[in-house]
Amino acid sequence: PRVAVLMGGPSAEREVSLSSGRQCAAALREAGFEALEVDAGPDLAQRLVEMRPDVAFNALHGRWGEDGCVQGLLEWLKVPYTHSGVLASALAMDKARAKDVFAAAGLPVVRSVLARRDEVCARHVMAPPYVVKPNNEGSSVGVYIVPEGANRPPQLAASMPDTVMVETYAPGRELTTAVLGDRALTVTDIITDGWYDYDAKYAPGGSRHEVPAKVPREVFDACLDMALRAHEALGCRGLSRTDFRWDESKGLKGLVILEINTQPGMTPTSLAPEQAAAAGIDFPALCRWLVEDASC
Ligand code: DAL
Ligand code: MG
Repeated sequence: PRVAVLMGGPSAEREVSLSSGRQCAAALREAGFEALEVDAGPDLAQRLVEMRPDVAFNALHGRWGEDGCVQGLLEWLKVPYTHSGVLASALAMDKARAKDVFAAAGLPVVRSVLARRDEVCARHVMAPPYVVKPNNEGSSVGVYIVPEGANRPPQLAASMPDTVMVETYAPGRELTTAVLGDRALTVTDIITDGWYDYDAKYAPGGSRHEVPAKVPREVFDACLDMALRAHEALGCRGLSRTDFRWDESKGLKGLVILEINTQPGMTPTSLAPEQAAAAGIDFPALCRWLVEDASC
């Protein structure tokens, strides 16, 4: 089968996606597929019509590739594609609306409000500590942390969207769980010196992953359960990864969902592939699984 690996694209996570895409294409070749690398530009529809792939492997991250847009195009062209469909992608990428769905499903989320950028720059929208982030970006792009005791509100860059999310700062450890099909894989504890920002995520040695996480059994099991319920509540398909914060001092009550990622990082050392490997599914097998799970 011919697989078009969609990567790059115009989002803020373009470089991350190029890295995911190239490595997925290499793994697919290893798994016996013909893998075509496609940098998703404005001519994507035309290129797909010409290429006639059997499956599109979605290795895009961020806006346009993770928010339902490319999924809608693939539906329109009747090309089966990997990962989540239009609605789940759109909901997951809109952090505020995803939280509404999680809360309705009884899952614990961090309190937040949407606010106008100029209002956020003018006054504290909530008592510090809090976090300001775009409502629809990944990889910690455009995230501001306002520490406890800060007297000035954050001066957001003009590139930030007109409406942003302001979220209570949730202290604690960063835990994450990937769901593959109907199975929550394991729990990873992400250990960084400071905050898990873009550099910690992608610079060599920027963070250390402890998998399986050394946390109490009940917390571990709660992550598996909550990741699966979050995946199902949004109607995700294939692979997703749910990120948590866990405040140890509060026990099980200190565990909250930060967000779900429907297009999690896909290099062999990314979190979800690492969890698949721990479950006995190596990287080429994971990529093959996704291709076989594709639909439209
Ligand atoms: N947004 C990045 C790619 C992730 O969640 O892994
Ligand atoms: Mg994300």
